Amino acid sequence: MDKNAFFPLSYGVYIITSKYEENFSGCVVNTVCQITAEDKPKLTVAVNKENYTTELMQKSKKVNIAVLAQDTEFLLIGKFGFRTGRDYNKLEDTMYITGENGIPIITESAVSYIECNILQEIDCSSHILFVLEAQEASVLNNKPALTYDYYHKVLKGKTPPKASSYSR
Ligand SMILES: Cc1cc2nc3c(=O)[nH]c(=O)nc-3n(C[C@H](O)[C@H](O)[C@H](O)COP(=O)(O)O)c2cc1C
Repeated sequence: MDKNAFFPLSYGVYIITSKYEENFSGCVVNTVCQITAEDKPKLTVAVNKENYTTELMQKSKKVNIAVLAQDTEFLLIGKFGFRTGRDYNKLEDTMYITGENGIPIITESAVSYIECNILQEIDCSSHILFVLEAQEASVLNNKPALTYDYYHKVLKGKTPPKASSYSR
């Protein structure tokens, strides 16, 4: 199989967050997808089984999505995309608000956010595909959103092994 065929697939870049009891984590993902456009739109997100965020999503059945801006600092991507929240408080020195659902939302470098309930989990070997239903959503500013293509080609960003897509 020529994995180069996957490179032209398009994605955005997001920070998803979840919390169960006093435990919090969040991670960078590129796999958020809007599936329906009804009153409470459905979305999906694919998250690696080993991510701490996955465990908290499975327990709380809630997740919030921050859509990142094109001018997002690498420091924020580094914190949420290359470190685990198992042994590190990612909220420290990060701008966030608490959503209606009680789960923190990363507002630093975000252009909008969506608060979601988790409806279903689908096992996809290394990853779990979560089916989500939006409960609340808000636009924070009109900055351009960061795309995965821009992250790789312009910012020369890297992707860790746990990301869903093939790494260049
Ligand atoms: C640009 C980028 C995209 C990523 N996309 C995904 C993704 O779609 N799914 C995933 O599970 N991890 C993805 N990751 C990796 C997670 O963000 C990373 O494993 C994180 O450290 C997990 O943190 P946690 O253990 O606190 O949940 C991505 C990372 C980067 C930098």
